[in-house]
Amino acid sequence: MSSIDFNQFVKYSKAGPRYTSYPTALEFSDQFSYESYIRYLENSTESLSLYVHLPFCRSACYFCGCNVVFTSKQENLDRYVEYLKKEIDILAQHLDTTREVIQFHFGGGTPTYYSAASLDEIVGYIKSKFTHWSPNAEMSCEIDPRYFNEEQMQVFAKHGFNRISFGVQDLDEKVQKEIHRLQPLSLTQKAVELARKYGIGSINVDFIYGLPYQTLESFKKSLELSMTLDPDRVAVFNYAHVPWLMKTMRKFDETTLPTPQVKLQILQHTIEFFETHGYKMVGMDHFAKPNDELFLAIDKGELHRNFQGYTTKGGANLIGIGLTSIGEGLRYYAQNSKDMSEYEALIDSGKLPFVRGVELSDDDYVRKAVIMELMANFSIDIRRIEKEHTIVFRDYFAHALTELQEFMEAQLVTVDENKLSLSPTGTLLIRNIAMPFDAYMQKYQGSKKSFSKTV
Ligand SMILES: C[S@@+](CC[C@H](N)C(=O)[O-])C[C@H]1O[C@@H](n2cnc3c(N)ncnc32)[C@H](O)[C@@H]1O
Ligand code: SF4
Repeated sequence: MSSIDFNQFVKYSKAGPRYTSYPTALEFSDQFSYESYIRYLENSTESLSLYVHLPFCRSACYFCGCNVVFTSKQENLDRYVEYLKKEIDILAQHLDTTREVIQFHFGGGTPTYYSAASLDEIVGYIKSKFTHWSPNAEMSCEIDPRYFNEEQMQVFAKHGFNRISFGVQDLDEKVQKEIHRLQPLSLTQKAVELARKYGIGSINVDFIYGLPYQTLESFKKSLELSMTLDPDRVAVFNYAHVPWLMKTMRKFDETTLPTPQVKLQILQHTIEFFETHGYKMVGMDHFAKPNDELFLAIDKGELHRNFQGYTTKGGANLIGIGLTSIGEGLRYYAQNSKDMSEYEALIDSGKLPFVRGVELSDDDYVRKAVIMELMANFSIDIRRIEKEHTIVFRDYFAHALTELQEFMEAQLVTVDENKLSLSPTGTLLIRNIAMPFDAYMQKYQGSKKSFSKTV
């Protein structure tokens, strides 16, 4: 990638979705009824991907945009396990639990805020209900290295976990202090060693750029240090600053956040850094070693994007279990309650804790295919989309193509009869380039408090 005049790019810094779903979560509503959701669960036959949300954390990292419940009370953790079990019992009444499970993911919060015994209890319970596990199932957990011990790792090993994602965020002490997350590199190194000792073959570390006091120089140093961990994958997320939604983000002095120019410089450096260190870019925020299945999936057209980021297991029916979890089928998204009392009350009434979602129209369905392909591959196979959705791409997306004109003129996007592709520089603006294909975008224009900034 050649040197870029980022001053020109600053105009693209606007609010926009990260497209972990399409339609985005802002379109989820109670118009998608409980009965419709149950019908989908009862009639689906695809393999299963199970997501279990363990929402608890001990203390707040101020940048955190995840659905978290802060607690220091063991009884809250224990009570939640009992509700998870009841939720799983209700699920088992509505879906065929002999469908093959090809993916299992513990997300949070901090899943390892739970003791080894509790984690064992939860996975054991799920395995007793869902009986058919693929021998190649991807089993993963998000881990905060500050809360991780050998007993927990033994439980993960016993249950066949093969992927772990560690939160690091930044290695600069000043930044760590400001984000309220002191985590020395040595601690992360120990956590990574522990995972490797138990045979975890795929270790991911998460970084975030755009945090207070980060500079190009400080981030360069953090990336250099990250190489001592020899991660198989690295996620480098663009900090989603949404203080109107997340109170702790209001603790940041916004003048200490890096400017869009600096963020673009960091992103460009990050891409070059990983390329020179033997990693390849996967999608908009992931890097993987060239033998990683994510990377191999790009060539086969099998890389998909979902709520957990990028995956090769695209065709599965994602079932969200636990507070706030989101499920995804071919034609729907379904979300559980974000409110613990409501979550518990729904389960107590014998129902799943589902509260909102969206059923995809034919138009949503084709736009989802286009946007997800763009987010995963930085290109669109126009011919295949036309065939699979019986549309004429140029006609169907005439409006989007007009909006993309400025990107084409800047040679960030090229379109011919067969393919729409992004130039390497265009990939830096992937969210902006996906937005013209989003039919709901107009609704949010002018409303500042919807999405985080794209740049
Ligand atoms: C749900 S968190 C769980 C990880 C675990 N609790 C930890 O902190 O290590 C998953 C990842 O989301 C990312 N993340 C959280 N808040 C974010 C934000 N506002 N913008 C961008 N990425 C964010 C962080 O990189 C974090 O590691
Ligand atoms: S980043 Fe992780 S540990 Fe920190 S508040 Fe968010 S979920 Fe909890």
